[in-house]
Amino acid sequence: MKFFVDTADISEIARLNPSGLVDGVTTNPSLIMKSNRDVREVLADICELVSGPVSAEVVATETEQMIQEGQVLAAIASNIVVKVPLTWDGLKACRALSDQSIRVNVTLCFSANQALLAAKAGAAYISPFIGRLDDLGLDGMDLIAHIRQIYDNYGFATEILAASIRSPFHVMSSALVGADVATVPPAVLRKLAKHPLTDKGLASFLSDWEKTGMSIV
Ligand code: E4P
Repeated sequence: MKFFVDTADISEIARLNPSGLVDGVTTNPSLIMKSNRDVREVLADICELVSGPVSAEVVATETEQMIQEGQVLAAIASNIVVKVPLTWDGLKACRALSDQSIRVNVTLCFSANQALLAAKAGAAYISPFIGRLDDLGLDGMDLIAHIRQIYDNYGFATEILAASIRSPFHVMSSALVGADVATVPPAVLRKLAKHPLTDKGLASFLSDWEKTGMSIV
């Protein structure tokens, strides 16, 4: 499973990058707003730090303007993936941009039928929003499992990018049902490494080691 970081905060990305766990980045208009920076500048900085796919979202709602914005975003760096919303206009823009060899991430997916349409429109990634479904008392993981089955039934190459992830449990569940990618907020990514028994075990090993008086280097 690939991990993308769901942020436009360049310092967070710079801190996480040396772990070797950051396979890409996703942004959206809300995350760009939070970064308080010019959209083109912040995306260019992210693309310099991370060689994997960096999703950048259009804000137009009509196909022609979406295509125009997608072309501008794609010109920022070769690893930009253009994000379009899962609307009828977005699907048409997805087809047009994909035909121009611009990779597209179709976002705001909340149903398996929407995901099927995105794959047929040539999407490189589909982003089902797990957390927002869970917020409504629905099961976001069922959606990922259904999309996995449909894509496998027909051999679609579109990658399933589990989005709106709120917890380590979401990451594990997405991995179990076969999502290709999880886009994870930095705080959740750090939590994946934490376990109280790891901390307890380490404290005990270190305390015993100190009693030996030895050093390794
Ligand atoms: C990722 O591509 C999405 O923009 C993001 O995961 C949305 O997450 P949220 O529902 O926590 O805002």
